[in-house]
Amino acid sequence: MDIKIYDKLAKRYDFATKVVSFGIEELWRWMFVREIKKYIKNGTLIDVASATGEMARALDFNKMYLIEPSAEMVRVIVEKFQKMGYKKEDFEVIFEQCPHIKLKKNQKEIIIIQDTAEDAILHEKADIITAFMALRNFDDLEKGMENLKKHIKPGGYFAVVEMVKNDSIISKLILWYMNKIVPVIAGMMLGMKEEYKLLGKSITSLDENKILNNLKGFSIVKKQKLIFPIATLIIAKRDDG
Ligand SMILES: C[S@@+](CC[C@H](N)C(=O)[O-])C[C@H]1O[C@@H](n2cnc3c(N)ncnc32)[C@H](O)[C@@H]1O
Repeated sequence: MDIKIYDKLAKRYDFATKVVSFGIEELWRWMFVREIKKYIKNGTLIDVASATGEMARALDFNKMYLIEPSAEMVRVIVEKFQKMGYKKEDFEVIFEQCPHIKLKKNQKEIIIIQDTAEDAILHEKADIITAFMALRNFDDLEKGMENLKKHIKPGGYFAVVEMVKNDSIISKLILWYMNKIVPVIAGMMLGMKEEYKLLGKSITSLDENKILNNLKGFSIVKKQKLIFPIATLIIAKRDDG
């Protein structure tokens, strides 16, 4: 996905997402968090394609790695968590060519890595990786998921919410809305009609099997369609745990 679109959108991303999804994305996030907490309450999290860091804010684990390639999104994440009392550590390094920014608040630690899912390298494995509306943005889904899977502890989880192709009438209606109406709203609200046309197209690029095929070595412990069946939730557990 062209990162420039997300750079341009970064400062208005949270607001724009609420408006164009009528708050449904927030409802999906709430359902996702509720499911995740049934399996794991705290620990080390890697959130991929973090955008403005809402997933980290909602899960609030003790140690959180956020992987996000857009420099402007990273800026928004840092500002958001600073407002929540996190302090930037004296540690902003270019590590393996990618900026790492560390934020701390009491026992809680956030490390933001400005990189893609395909290329990010971490020197720690996580209890869980979350990918909320993330996978369809990867340039190479297989490479991205393989790289992420390497960073999960034995017995750890890979948790996904993604919009996928679906033949139901309601899904077709939602897709029509995303492809035809949302770009018009985004054009009026943000001057970003063409960008939203591209984002809309990316929704039809994934089907559920593509995701499941890339979860070899993991067992599916939860799979469900969320309200408005265009979004699917998958929680998979690494087999050797
Ligand atoms: C729809 S947003 C994700 C929403 C976010 N996960 C949340 O919880 O609100 C998509 C994000 O994917 C990021 N992205 C694009 N290409 C990526 C890649 N190859 N690897 C990881 N993230 C990518 C974009 O910069 C953007 O911030």
